[in-house]
Amino acid sequence: MSDDSRPSPAGVLPQAGTRIAAVIPAAGRGVRLGPGAPKALRTLNGTPMLIHAVRAMAASRAVSLVVVVAPPDGAAEVKSLLDAHALPGGTPGGSWGRTDFVVVPGGDTRQQSVKLGLDALPPEYEIVLVHDAARPLVPVDTVDAVIEAVREGAPAVVPALPLADTVKEVEPAATPGEPEPVVATPERARLRAVQTPQGFDRATLVRAHETVTDNVTDDASMVEQLGLGVVVVPGHEEAFKVTRPLDLVLAEAVLARRRLNDGF
Ligand code: C5P
Repeated sequence: MSDDSRPSPAGVLPQAGTRIAAVIPAAGRGVRLGPGAPKALRTLNGTPMLIHAVRAMAASRAVSLVVVVAPPDGAAEVKSLLDAHALPGGTPGGSWGRTDFVVVPGGDTRQQSVKLGLDALPPEYEIVLVHDAARPLVPVDTVDAVIEAVREGAPAVVPALPLADTVKEVEPAATPGEPEPVVATPERARLRAVQTPQGFDRATLVRAHETVTDNVTDDASMVEQLGLGVVVVPGHEEAFKVTRPLDLVLAEAVLARRRLNDGF
């Protein structure tokens, strides 16, 4: 396996008439990771997670704009970080050079942050990916598979994986740690754990944000609420979300494995 954030020679290409942008919400505090900098600015092998995530989007030859949604008080810092890493030759594959960047301040919730990112998109972008800064290692093939499915006509596309664990629905306890009554056990074979980037027909996602006001944890579920078809494509185990301290260890191990494989 090579560095999976590099453009693949056979990856999806830009198409005349359809421009594709990626919005990266990166405004979360990441409290579950413990005290420290906002999660997106924590480093993996010395490079901020956000930079890995931006590279992962820019690695797709079809993505020509990345909108980074920064912590509300951190937009200037994020802008200089991107500028510092965007120097020619500073990124694998030289992909940085043909991808434009915009930084906007985020909101109180992930949903608000995504909306602020969408508001910053120039009109010519017809397809938009929404990608968590907290999934820094998604391989380019997964990004391209999502784009391909949107191009084929799906209004919303999510990469997802089957579950290893059986899942129980419970009545959440008022006090953490108290026993919780089980309400149901959904059939595991029909469940998928969803990842990002999620891909959208831009007009559909904008309409979803105008219509759906509930707080959601997943952009595609807003499109489901409009009654439109959302499809799943295969996700990737390296697209996991860095949430807890152990995830940082795993992410650095993935990077080390990529470097090792690059040596051969
Ligand atoms: O909290 P969670 O892990 O679900 O956050 C997913 C992504 O949403 C992260 O990349 C985080 O930075 C982003 N986020 C945001 N604005 C918020 C909260 C979360 O951009 N207010």
